[in-house]
Amino acid sequence: MENQESDLIEQIRQQFDYAPYPRIPLEQSPESEYELLYLHNLVTAYYFRNRKVINTEGKLILDAGCGSGYKSLVLATANPGAKIVGIDLSEQSVKLARHRLEYHGFENAEFYAIKIEELPSLGLQFDYINADEVLYLLPDAVAGMQAMKSVLKPDGIIRTNLHSSNGRAGVFRAQAVFKTMGLMNGSPGEVEIEIVRETMEALQDEVGLKAFTWNSDRAQDEGWIMANYLLVGDKGCTIPELFALLRATDLEFINMVAWRRWDLMDLFKDPDDLPPFLAMSLPEASVEEQLHLFDLLHPLHRLFDFWCGNPGTQAFVPVAEWTEADWQSARVHLHPQLRTSQAREDLSNCIASDTPFEISRYIIVPTLAPIAIDCTIAACLLPLWDGPQSAVSLAEKWLQSGVEPAVNLEPAAQETAFDQVKELLTRLEVFLYVLLEH
Ligand SMILES: C[S@@+](CC[C@H](N)C(=O)[O-])C[C@H]1O[C@@H](n2cnc3c(N)ncnc32)[C@H](O)[C@@H]1O
Repeated sequence: MENQESDLIEQIRQQFDYAPYPRIPLEQSPESEYELLYLHNLVTAYYFRNRKVINTEGKLILDAGCGSGYKSLVLATANPGAKIVGIDLSEQSVKLARHRLEYHGFENAEFYAIKIEELPSLGLQFDYINADEVLYLLPDAVAGMQAMKSVLKPDGIIRTNLHSSNGRAGVFRAQAVFKTMGLMNGSPGEVEIEIVRETMEALQDEVGLKAFTWNSDRAQDEGWIMANYLLVGDKGCTIPELFALLRATDLEFINMVAWRRWDLMDLFKDPDDLPPFLAMSLPEASVEEQLHLFDLLHPLHRLFDFWCGNPGTQAFVPVAEWTEADWQSARVHLHPQLRTSQAREDLSNCIASDTPFEISRYIIVPTLAPIAIDCTIAACLLPLWDGPQSAVSLAEKWLQSGVEPAVNLEPAAQETAFDQVKELLTRLEVFLYVLLEH
């Protein structure tokens, strides 16, 4: 058994030495990839968990299974002042990752060719661990999670993912075909890629496997064929298996990374008019049950991509249920991915030209219609580009700016302005465009 495991690990190492992943040109910068930056920003995950805004300065981030280092670069870009440590089984991948960070001027980064299971040998404790597209390759995911947990600070957060057996069913069937053909016995290379390409192209377009998985436009994309049809060690799981893994390692689920795409209610024609059985039972269902049902009804997601951490999350009151006293002491931050000079300039231009401000352009929350805010009310957000503000002072500054129509400073006008500010912040906080502390 142990020999089998080490043979598999060796096969995986050879595969990624031959074809480091992802194949992204060295010079490509993630600076305008807002959604990637948003999800790799520690502020996002910590806010989901604690409803607090953290400073990324001095934080220690691990990119476990860093591959060719593009996500390490995203982590470095999204978290100013943090130190990045990347590890990977494949020496060739580690070399590329190190070179990539150097090329983009990030000096506060180190890379090591070690296995996830060997993490404790680093003697470091991390604030955040990113283990993207790697856990499903480990022969023993529990051992991998335990190794990561052992180097996680008590309040640290792990972002990792597993493949969905349902969401990736077609690809697993394709892998079974190519295993049967003996293409995955060793470490697949050019010859095996060519056989996959020829086989898939030779099939009639209506053949199920081809219709579900193949994309002729990508037939020349070797990285895509390797990462799907010939991925040695790849396996899927179900939502109950994911939660069993968390229980086995005493880790607590925080949220799906693509949380907005996991809403069960989105699957129904009219969520306000559900069949009585569902109307009664769904609100009572646990997070695990709801996610499981989603994955069974609509296996849209290839990945169960999630954040987790040590147990002990404090309960918090949702902003929609805040009292007046909560609002009086509320402090408002813009999400760092929104606090750019471009976004500020765009907002100023919207105010000048009396056009709506499309705030969702900077952090795209998928499946959502664009969020455009009337520029008169959006103007209350302007001071946030200078730094965090109290909710009260946002309303005051807005009135004084003269953009708000009720320009007199009567108490009634102040109250109305504050109500409008609260309403807008409540709407935007759902998507973490603004972050509220009290
Ligand atoms: C699909 S790539 C993902 C790379 C990167 N995380 C990303 O998402 O762009 C998987 C990486 O995990 C590495 N890997 C696989 N098993 C590993 C292990 N046991 N320990 C460390 N790295 C491992 C592989 O060498 C490969 O570089």
